[in-house]
Amino acid sequence: MFVVAPMPSASAQSASAAACLGELRGRDLLSSADLSADQTHALLGLASALKQGQLRVDLSGKVLGLIFLKASTRTRVSFSVAMGRLGGQVIDLDPSVTQVGRGEPVADTARVLSRFVDALAIRTFEQREVDEYAHWASIPVINALTDLEHPCQALADYLTLQEAFGELEGLTLSYVGDGNNVAHSLMLCGALLGVNVRVGCPPDFAPDDGILQRARSLAAAQGARVEVVHDPVAAVRGAQALYTDVWASMGKEEEKEAREQAFAGWCLNEDLLAEADPRAIVLHCLPAYRGLEISAGLIEGGASRVFDQAENRLHAQQALLAALLGGV
Ligand code: CP
Ligand code: NVA
Repeated sequence: MFVVAPMPSASAQSASAAACLGELRGRDLLSSADLSADQTHALLGLASALKQGQLRVDLSGKVLGLIFLKASTRTRVSFSVAMGRLGGQVIDLDPSVTQVGRGEPVADTARVLSRFVDALAIRTFEQREVDEYAHWASIPVINALTDLEHPCQALADYLTLQEAFGELEGLTLSYVGDGNNVAHSLMLCGALLGVNVRVGCPPDFAPDDGILQRARSLAAAQGARVEVVHDPVAAVRGAQALYTDVWASMGKEEEKEAREQAFAGWCLNEDLLAEADPRAIVLHCLPAYRGLEISAGLIEGGASRVFDQAENRLHAQQALLAALLGGV
């Protein structure tokens, strides 16, 4: 249930945002492309309102289950704190102490958990697995990171960009590094928001072609562009946001050294920042390897919004939980 604090005036825009949020009740978030452009804007607006204390949401009695098969600090803690702040609860369904880790079928786990909890946030390897949970569960399933996507991260990232520049449409975000899960969700979510997304990567580490085509078609509808280039300077030139992530994602640890060689010359550093828009901000989803994909100076420097971005995981996920569980 939403408890709306008195607002100065209820504009037509806020009524349409409320309608967009209402459409999300009971839905899954498996991919950034599960949301429409209007729904994505509405979630960012709700996140911002919650952050500024303009709105209160009551999810008392609601329970979110976490099934994480990979390590996590930010996602695990921000979901837990988000539910706590909204009056709900979290249960950590740690695979090592539940039957999940012993191989109980997803079809059974999803149907049983649907009788106990109100939503599931799942972090795993294959996208197919979260899709399967969503197929069998009768409650919302949230992708808390797969090898293919990280949609919750992208919401926090664009909230951070919106806070820095006010309007998102027409901005350029340059992602420099591995064409991975984080890059994929940035491409799709950015496309929906009318942000030009430029991915710079070595040719062997390009984003998934299906995601690229999808992002391009979503971007075209918003008058934006999604590009892939193989030169770091061309990637960042004139951009308003520079973003990078680890070169070896979870599950690819054995490729770490080979990737460090393949990515030589791709460190997001002061030289690349000098090629960007003078107002450019620096983003990283964290955790980061300083001196590899990003220089220590950039993370700690004046353009960095990395820790605001991490905080925004909390606000974006409060908005997401409110929409999926609360209704408007
Ligand atoms: N950015 C992010 O998802 O961090 P965690 O792996 O710590 O959750
Ligand atoms: N691409 C990274 C993101 C971690 C938040 C990984 O999947 O490990």
